[in-house]
Amino acid sequence: MYISKITGLGSYVPENVVTNDDLSKVMDTNDAWIQERTGIKERRHIKKGDGNSTSVMGVKAAKIALSRASLGPKDIDMIIFATLSPDMYFPGGGVQVQEALDMRTVPALDVRNQCSGFVYALSVADQFIKTGMYKHVLVIGSENHSGGLDFTTRGRGVSVIFGDGAGAAVVSRNETGKGGILSTHLHSEGKHKDELSLQGPSTQYWVPEIIEKNPQEDIPYYPYMNGTFVFKHAVVRFSEVIKEGLEANKLSVSDIDMLIPHQANLRISQFIQEKFKLPNEKVFNNIQKYGNTTAASIPIALTEAWEEGKIKEGDLVVLAAFGSGFTWGSAIMRW
Ligand code: COA
Repeated sequence: MYISKITGLGSYVPENVVTNDDLSKVMDTNDAWIQERTGIKERRHIKKGDGNSTSVMGVKAAKIALSRASLGPKDIDMIIFATLSPDMYFPGGGVQVQEALDMRTVPALDVRNQCSGFVYALSVADQFIKTGMYKHVLVIGSENHSGGLDFTTRGRGVSVIFGDGAGAAVVSRNETGKGGILSTHLHSEGKHKDELSLQGPSTQYWVPEIIEKNPQEDIPYYPYMNGTFVFKHAVVRFSEVIKEGLEANKLSVSDIDMLIPHQANLRISQFIQEKFKLPNEKVFNNIQKYGNTTAASIPIALTEAWEEGKIKEGDLVVLAAFGSGFTWGSAIMRW
């Protein structure tokens, strides 16, 4: 068995900054409400004509990650692309990356696990590398939320939270003998699938409904979120899956050097931080700047933490995610 390690990280967010005040011009909301409930001050939205899309942002993040891993696109053995907002219903973003980066005809796998997407994708990459099948896997999380949110007062409970962006990691066979991914832990509970969901377009709300009826009041084309319900489950599952990961490696909370929680809501991260009694410098948050970027949130945060020198060789880094499905997971890594 081999050990895998993240050898390159990159991120990209669109230039267009959307503040809470900007949102209050199009819906009944305000900066105080959004900051108090979520910690978010601003987020990035793709602007029509800026050339960005989910796959384009993913490619931009991937190029940075590849150069930091000192690898070229042709060195990659597999692409794993996590998103809930693909450019097309099908095919997914993986093949778009394969084309854009002129990669060999390597497999391109799409992961649809929403906010847990990056941890799921990382876990898949880890398995392929552990078995020796592949040497370098490119893992991308990218989201274009702004293209599909309800920016009227009706959608304010959801649309103020989410932002656009992408993060990428090159996961490689660890040739250094130092550090690597120690374990990953994945879960799901489909009975709560409706509580955070986008039901159309889908085979339930298919083309005839879109073209023939197109009812203005029909909302399945916008995400639905039972916020309070999601919050309550998130804090429990985050805690459980972090503990599960630590216990699997005979580690304890005091061994954590850096916890990177999926940036769902600053209040959720703070709840976990308080529960585990972790000091501020051991928990990384950047939701204030980007909102919740779903599958992109962990790789963007991990990239920024690393760029800011907050992750050093030998550190124990814990990633934890929870999201729609519900699905949740963690990854325990020695940097
Ligand atoms: N601006 C102003 N008011 C808003 C608002 C907004 N953007 N969104 C909702 N409200 C209103 C509601 O209409 C409600 O008004 P009412 O009391 O008159 O009915 C009031 O604020 C409280 O709404 P509620 O949904 O109960 O608020 P909350 O305290 O649960 O906070 C969330 C809402 C969404 C911030 C919170 O539930 C949350 O963060 N949940 C987790 C979401 C999450 O992490 N999702 C991603 C998971 S990966």
